[in-house]
Amino acid sequence: MAKKKSVLDFYQMKERGEKITYLTSYDFCTARIAEQAGLEMLLVGDSLGNVMYGYEGTIPVTMNQMILHSQAVRKGAPNTFVIGDMPFLSYQKSVEDAIENAARFYKEAGVDAIKLEGGRRVVPQISGIVGSGMVVMGHIGMTPQSSGQMGGYKVQGNTAEAAMELLADAEALQEAGVFAVLLESIPPETGKLITEKLRVPVVGIGAGPYCDGQVLIVHDMLGIYEVFTPKFVKKYANLAEEMRRAFGEYISDIKNGKFPAAEHCYKMKPGEAEKLNELLKKGA
Ligand code: KIV
Repeated sequence: MAKKKSVLDFYQMKERGEKITYLTSYDFCTARIAEQAGLEMLLVGDSLGNVMYGYEGTIPVTMNQMILHSQAVRKGAPNTFVIGDMPFLSYQKSVEDAIENAARFYKEAGVDAIKLEGGRRVVPQISGIVGSGMVVMGHIGMTPQSSGQMGGYKVQGNTAEAAMELLADAEALQEAGVFAVLLESIPPETGKLITEKLRVPVVGIGAGPYCDGQVLIVHDMLGIYEVFTPKFVKKYANLAEEMRRAFGEYISDIKNGKFPAAEHCYKMKPGEAEKLNELLKKGA
């Protein structure tokens, strides 16, 4: 089992040009398999609102949901760097609120870092959380919690001016003390600019190949979430198809009496089946 990575390892990976591998995870079994496979970072993303609860977006997700899922992931992946995602309104209202909610991830779920969305406007919150001794990943570009202000899930940073604005946000986050920045749904040119300008690692989801690492939503890359698939997703499996096949076979086995078979049944103690028959005969 590889040693759990720390923020220092991630800085060194950026320096060496070694890519960081990162995936979302929301439950014990998936986290366990991801750790066994060697993923270096796991995000308990508020995307669980979509893929675990079927909400239309991430807005309804609560701190309690995030804590419960983070606890499950921590249990499944004790040796992987786990990041808890701050849900909508858990940090926007005040710096005090942000510190308190970030601390819940640490105290109740044992995460290694938290992530929150926003650029210059969340610098006070990031400074407060980092100042309290916690580790923070920033998240800019397309930020689902404020997608309403962006007119929906739209590509960001696709003009020269917008790219420079995003760079200013990324630099402000770095100055506030984030250990890494996540870029979402931006063209590769903007991803390259920000990755090259920052000292801290930059991970991307739909931000092109030049970032220091890549993250995907596990239900997207496994082909389980079929409601909507963004352009940036590469499907590494089609588990929805495989699940439908397995469920179908299960149904037909039950209907045809093929399941359960002898190997799925417990045995009576020796001689007890005969005794039971005798008892039934006497009673009859
Ligand atoms: O919530 C989430 O899963 C995210 C992804 C964009 C990585 O923040």
